[in-house]
Amino acid sequence: MTIPIDDFIDDDFVKSQDLSVVILKNINKNEDIKKKCFNLVKKNMFAMYKRSCFGWEDSEKLKEMSLTPLVYVCLLHEQSKELVAFTSLEDTEEDNVPCLYMYELQVCLKYRAHKLGSWLTYQAAVLAHEYFQKDYIFLTVFSENKKAMSFYKKFGFKRHTSSPAAIRKLRSGRIIEPDYYIFYSSVATITRRSKDILTKDLDSATGTISGA
Ligand SMILES: CC(C)(COP(=O)(O)OP(=O)(O)OC[C@H]1O[C@@H](n2cnc3c(N)ncnc32)[C@H](O)[C@@H]1OP(=O)(O)O)[C@@H](O)C(=O)NCCC(=O)NCCS
Repeated sequence: MTIPIDDFIDDDFVKSQDLSVVILKNINKNEDIKKKCFNLVKKNMFAMYKRSCFGWEDSEKLKEMSLTPLVYVCLLHEQSKELVAFTSLEDTEEDNVPCLYMYELQVCLKYRAHKLGSWLTYQAAVLAHEYFQKDYIFLTVFSENKKAMSFYKKFGFKRHTSSPAAIRKLRSGRIIEPDYYIFYSSVATITRRSKDILTKDLDSATGTISGA
């Protein structure tokens, strides 16, 4: 008997913040949440996409976000049903390494620094290990997204050999960065580090979350 994916979610941490978890194995069955996820990605990432080799086209991004292998883990505010944060995950391979690929990790501006990104990363590691039986998580991060890179490094993520690399110009010594890096970390490391981050006193973040 297959255990339902929802059974692998430990929602005590987010419940205490008036949030509920919704897991969608086919985002196309919930157009409302799909639109909210799309709007959040656009709000957070539009400028970076525009400056990168990828560019931004609403229809293309929506198509990519609608792909059915993606599993969405969404955090909604209990009362208002506002989308607060989400991650989308794919059971796949990167450079012949079986892995869970974290396609998106997005937190609304006003909910940042409340460990929701950490909780979603922890949950992705739990799902990778227990549901998808994968040992690694991979992701893509824009090289200009220094904040996200320092966030990911806390969970042991580092550049994979399949990633574009920075090039040092021989004469000037100037470093030319690619538009993006492919990062990876082991599920064991992510789980250990995210547990440490999540159990650190929430007071060290910016306090409790005000209602939506
Ligand atoms: C990156 C992001 C997901 C982090 O989520 P978050 O919920 O704000 O982060 P958390 O509160 O879980 O932070 C966990 C740790 O990372 C650190 N961290 C979080 N954001 C950081 C930032 N902008 N700069 C440096 N460190 C950061 C926190 O200080 C915390 O460390 P600590 O426990 O030692 O204090 C969130 O800022 C975001 O959605 N950004 C915009 C979208 C984006 O860039 N997504 C990544 C795409 S690849």
